[in-house]
Amino acid sequence: MLRRAKITIIGAGNVGATCAHWCAAAELGDVFLLDIPQTEDMPRGKALDLRQASPIMGFDSNIVGTTDYADTAGSDVIVVTAGIPRKPGMSRDDLLATNAKIVTSVAEQIKATSPDAVVIVVSNPLDAMVQQMWKVTGFDSARVIGQAGVLDTARYRTFLAMELGVSVEDISALLMGGHGDTMVPIPSCTSVGGIPVTQLIDSARLDEIVDRTRTGGAEIVSLLKTGSAYYAPAAACAQMVEAVVKDKKRVIPVAAYCESQYGVGGYYVGVPVVMGAGGVEKIIELKLTDDETKAFQNSVDAVKSLVATMDGLLSA
Ligand code: NAI
Ligand code: 2OP
Repeated sequence: MLRRAKITIIGAGNVGATCAHWCAAAELGDVFLLDIPQTEDMPRGKALDLRQASPIMGFDSNIVGTTDYADTAGSDVIVVTAGIPRKPGMSRDDLLATNAKIVTSVAEQIKATSPDAVVIVVSNPLDAMVQQMWKVTGFDSARVIGQAGVLDTARYRTFLAMELGVSVEDISALLMGGHGDTMVPIPSCTSVGGIPVTQLIDSARLDEIVDRTRTGGAEIVSLLKTGSAYYAPAAACAQMVEAVVKDKKRVIPVAAYCESQYGVGGYYVGVPVVMGAGGVEKIIELKLTDDETKAFQNSVDAVKSLVATMDGLLSA
């Protein structure tokens, strides 16, 4: 019998609850919103509130709030947003010690209750958290994926559309590497209605837009002051959930496990992939220019050093 997809979102905070909203409103499946027992009834309250929006907005999704992993058993897709966000003055890496422990415990629970799920990790610092999720669950790496590139690329597309005064829908772009200051724009893969962006914006101005993209997360933190971005991150997660539950075969940048690809050697980094029901179904290997290769390698080195720091903290 056909059934709706079962989507679990771990962490019912800003990103988690907003992702539940996007997923339910798009009727991607039934949504289970889980948080820690200390949050008491909060996930149930958010789920019920969201469900009461459904008659008005016209969507059919069961939305369940819980603090018990048993309710999430057999999930098809799991989005992990559990952890602390940044405050002004903090980098994503400042979250490492706390979130590594949280993600480890979440991974153990997912492994026990939803062994066949595709897992999308959001918690920061993203590149290390997704590596840890993969290591602890022991899942096939195609089913453990990090969300960063969809968000970073969306920021870049937004800024390019603002610069040119054109529709965001006509901007196609690609950023690779880690989710941090070392992320790598690929100008040869950036176009506006099919026109190479380099024909419309000069390189100095393009560099400024790339810089704003690199610090796009910090810009929002400095404006919000109490936490980090969540509307766009949650929308990025919902797009990845949709790719899985509808087997869309989307070509999007995600943090994927690269062994031989790009010579990464066994780490999660942002690369373009084909994403469908199986998670990452293919990693697309582009021919990069010498400058892009250098910048990508620099970003991979930053990810490797982050993972080494995490491993040191967890084994101390
Ligand atoms: P938030 O503080 O609003 O929500 C986090 C939730 O996680 C809280 O409700 C908390 O109770 C819950 N939580 C903590 N430990 C848990 C556990 N063991 N199990 C289940 N739930 C647990 O934070 P927000 O803004 O939702 O951000 C969540 C994470 O996502 C942060 O680490 C943030 O840095 C990251 N993030 C990553 C992005 C990306 O592009 N990869 C974008 C935006 C946020
Ligand atoms: C962002 O880029 C906090 O990683 C998050 O907004």
